[in-house]
Amino acid sequence: MKIAVIGANGQLGSDVAVAFEKNGDPVFRLTHADIELASPDSVSKCLGELRPDLVINTAAMHNVEKCEQEPEKAFAVNAIGSRNLASSARELGAVLMHVSTDYVFDGSKGSPYEEGDTPRPLSVYGNTKLSGEFFVRAGAPKHFVLRSSAIYGTSPCRAKGGLNFVELMLKLAKERGEVRVVANEFVTPTATEEIARQMVALSRSDAYGLYHATAEGSCSWYEFARQIFELTQTKVTLKAAGPNDFPVKVARPLYSVLENRALKNRGLNTFMPWNAALQKYLERRAERIKVECSV
Ligand SMILES: NC(=O)c1ccc[n+]([C@@H]2O[C@H](COP(=O)([O-])OP(=O)(O)OC[C@H]3O[C@@H](n4cnc5c(N)ncnc54)[C@H](OP(=O)(O)O)[C@@H]3O)[C@@H](O)[C@H]2O)c1
Repeated sequence: MKIAVIGANGQLGSDVAVAFEKNGDPVFRLTHADIELASPDSVSKCLGELRPDLVINTAAMHNVEKCEQEPEKAFAVNAIGSRNLASSARELGAVLMHVSTDYVFDGSKGSPYEEGDTPRPLSVYGNTKLSGEFFVRAGAPKHFVLRSSAIYGTSPCRAKGGLNFVELMLKLAKERGEVRVVANEFVTPTATEEIARQMVALSRSDAYGLYHATAEGSCSWYEFARQIFELTQTKVTLKAAGPNDFPVKVARPLYSVLENRALKNRGLNTFMPWNAALQKYLERRAERIKVECSV
């Protein structure tokens, strides 16, 4: 199966490309230099030349504050860009696997969101991603839409200035010795390798549709930080920040935990608990550092 990964130098895209390559699939790694989602011509020309069987879109404009400042651009990339992909995938007879977000929900439910729950995005980012979902679902007959949450991976997140939450916490602990983290915002930290593994499993099925795709369980950002420090035996004073300690410029859901109901119902869920995945990530990180130090 020929696979085109869009956003292939991004945090998620890099691991997705590796996972499919390890699986023996030929992968076209497409970066922003190769394809512009907002341009129908760029999308149809690029994909038309490659003729992939599966198009995986990990690319997006996803800096929440930037989206709020530039709503037209955010809509052009996240919504119209998804429409462009859906049209090309349909014309090529390809499957489209598209990544969306927990920020399509407002957080008021207070228990894990399932695929059937009504979305109500609080931000431009969430609205444009939800529009993108609808364009994919309406325009590409063979589609998988995967909503994930609080992503972290080995490759830097390009839209958020490089450091993922794990690396940021370890850096701050080293520099300051005391770290304050919000304790009233609940998510499911999800490792990119885990999402990539789930994508490989899904790509082997024709169970098209909308899926929640996060690790199992949930925690606050404060609990996530505590687990990072415990697992790395980092000596640091960790303090819980209150709701007004870090003023937010854009409204975010305070509870955006997702339940992988559709994956589980179809016997396709491959995710492990978030803290087990974190431990795996930290073990691989320690091995990498050891290798880097020895060369
Ligand atoms: N990060 C999270 O916590 C989180 C949570 C839930 C869902 N998501 C979703 O997960 C996906 C992947 O996130 P990530 O952390 O891997 O992002 P990332 O590291 O910032 O990578 C995004 C990729 O998209 C490319 N890109 C941006 N605008 C583009 C455009 N107009 N046309 C073509 N390519 C474009 C970027 O290229 P350049 O940098 O060169 O522009 C980059 O390669 C996104 O869809 C995001 O909405 C993320």
